[in-house]
Amino acid sequence: MRLRYVEGQYDYVKEHPKGIVEPQDYEYNIRDKFKNDNPLHIELGCGKGRFIRGMAANNPNINFLGFEKSIKVAYRCVKCSSIDDPENYYIVYSNGEVLAEIFPEKAVERIYLNFSDPWPKPSHYKRRLTHKGFLDIYKKVLVDDGEVHMKTDNNDLFEFSVEQFIEDGWDIVILTRDLHNSIYNEGNVMTEYEEKFSESGKKINKLIAKKKV
Ligand SMILES: C[S@@+](CC[C@H](N)C(=O)[O-])C[C@H]1O[C@@H](n2cnc3c(N)ncnc32)[C@H](O)[C@@H]1O
Repeated sequence: MRLRYVEGQYDYVKEHPKGIVEPQDYEYNIRDKFKNDNPLHIELGCGKGRFIRGMAANNPNINFLGFEKSIKVAYRCVKCSSIDDPENYYIVYSNGEVLAEIFPEKAVERIYLNFSDPWPKPSHYKRRLTHKGFLDIYKKVLVDDGEVHMKTDNNDLFEFSVEQFIEDGWDIVILTRDLHNSIYNEGNVMTEYEEKFSESGKKINKLIAKKKV
């Protein structure tokens, strides 16, 4: 479904208690939003936020930031939040490309990539969130044993990502091409896209890649 631009979306996200805009303005101290030193997990491309909300509710001792580069989607996401939502998450209107300008080195314990845009044309591979250019950014901001958790229905993107992680020297510690029928499904929090794709009969790929020191 194509989302409509609504006047004032940026200001709505900026003023919303769950919204963050211009994250670089925090000068590497965005973690202070949480008022504790709990580990930080981020999701790039959080969409309408079902995953980040579910994860935050299930893991009250972890802080979560969901990054979303589209203002239309970020607006929908914060609008879906409710007064009963867990305190340990915020939605950041920002492109994941700038992570190294937001976080100091080794500040993030885990990065989630859920159903990232597949960018099928080879000339667009650089935009894939598992392209080496992005993996280098992740290595900077992740702690030494930090992890990237990736789920996708897109087999081409998945195989590309496996290659990128291996070539870039990461350890792939978990890999399945059928998450929902695997031992790794326990505790899985579904995303909006995951539900849609699995209901249409698609198998879900998942990997966990660990940064090698
Ligand atoms: C296909 S949707 C998946 C949404 C959600 N993760 C899910 O699984 O339901 C991908 C989302 O990632 C966002 N996105 C793509 N590239 C991004 C980037 N570099 N930084 C932040 N968000 C990004 C898009 O705007 C879009 O909302």
